[in-house]
Amino acid sequence: MIKKVSIEQLRPGVFVHDFNCGFNSSNLIINQAVIRDMKMYEILQSWGIKEVYIDTDRGLDVDDGRPALEARLETDTALQDLAREQPASRRTVPLKEEMLVARNIKQQAASVIYNAIESVRKGEPLEVEKAYKLISKMEKSITRNRDALVLLTRIRQRDEYTLMHSISVAAYVLNFCNFYKIPHKRTMSLAIGAMFHDIGKTLVPIEILNKPGKLTDDEFEEMKRHSRYSSQILKTAKGLPAEAYDMGLHHHERYDGTGYPDGLKGDEIKSGSQLVAIADVYDAITSDRCYRNAMGRLEGLRKIYEWSEYHFNKDLTHKFIRGIGVYPIGTCVKLESGRIGVVIGSTENMIQPVVRIFFDEKRNVKMPLHDIDLSLTEDQVTGYEDPESWDVKKLNLFEDVAVDLLAGSPG
Ligand SMILES: [Fe+2]
Ligand SMILES: [Fe+2]
Repeated sequence: MIKKVSIEQLRPGVFVHDFNCGFNSSNLIINQAVIRDMKMYEILQSWGIKEVYIDTDRGLDVDDGRPALEARLETDTALQDLAREQPASRRTVPLKEEMLVARNIKQQAASVIYNAIESVRKGEPLEVEKAYKLISKMEKSITRNRDALVLLTRIRQRDEYTLMHSISVAAYVLNFCNFYKIPHKRTMSLAIGAMFHDIGKTLVPIEILNKPGKLTDDEFEEMKRHSRYSSQILKTAKGLPAEAYDMGLHHHERYDGTGYPDGLKGDEIKSGSQLVAIADVYDAITSDRCYRNAMGRLEGLRKIYEWSEYHFNKDLTHKFIRGIGVYPIGTCVKLESGRIGVVIGSTENMIQPVVRIFFDEKRNVKMPLHDIDLSLTEDQVTGYEDPESWDVKKLNLFEDVAVDLLAGSPG
């Protein structure tokens, strides 16, 4: 059985199934291991890890600890409660329509970021005028349909990670600002800080950046320096607010003080840096990297919710989750009527998505695929379903959306 336990409960012979360390987005590489001695405890503690998942079928059990399934159900209930607290309505145009605009924005974003990287390599100051123009366009797109741009940035080649990650983190920050009606000027500085939070990686040697295996201590120290490099580069740009370069400098700080470079704690970390930290980790864990495959968007929400207990500002994380919506596209859900389907779009109400139905559990029959806009019916989502147990991938639910997505992906 998989159990969630605190690291104090670990002892030799226990098999760690998941080190649960994705909140530390620069060091996600460790997988599974048997605890050999208590030195491991010290290492985990030094990395800021508080809770891990163990497998009692592959190693010793511990006294307390909760079945992982139970912990997950509790998280799922909490997520849905969060969304119900503020199901704000917003204007929306159909996904397909906005996808066309978003595709152009994505191309433009790629060129803005490539140019920025080029000028950094040449030692020139960072040019942000075009980036500001781009961010205005992104902001408008997200106001019309919050899914289009984020979905497009998820289609990325593995070597495009840093490029698409910059756009995607900026898109999440813009989505947050839009949802909470943050004033335009502040929105702009948060988004520009988000877009260039990792620009310092340009100065980290490529062999370290793309190394598929575990980094040596020296390599890891160099990797960690990227946040200082980012703030130095951001400072070369004319007229940027201090908040933007603080986001470069402090996006790896963690609320419990276990982050870097300055080991800041709680509200010593400025709010913009707290926000970009959440968006950064959410994008990192839900994207394919050179060394591992992505988890789904719902699983990503569960994780940042779980980690907000220690590693992020809890209240801000809850707000971030609300802004994304707890039914991201692709989530498998059950409705009150007993129908099962997959979320294929959002409506003006965050807890009433459009669901493509494929099964009726009450009658135990497959249904011909059809879409229900929950904002127009009495039916509602009652819980999540495991997409694997329904073999959702085989159902080809996304043929029409996927065609658009693939057409928008770079060659
Ligand atoms: Fe970073
Ligand atoms: Fe990042």
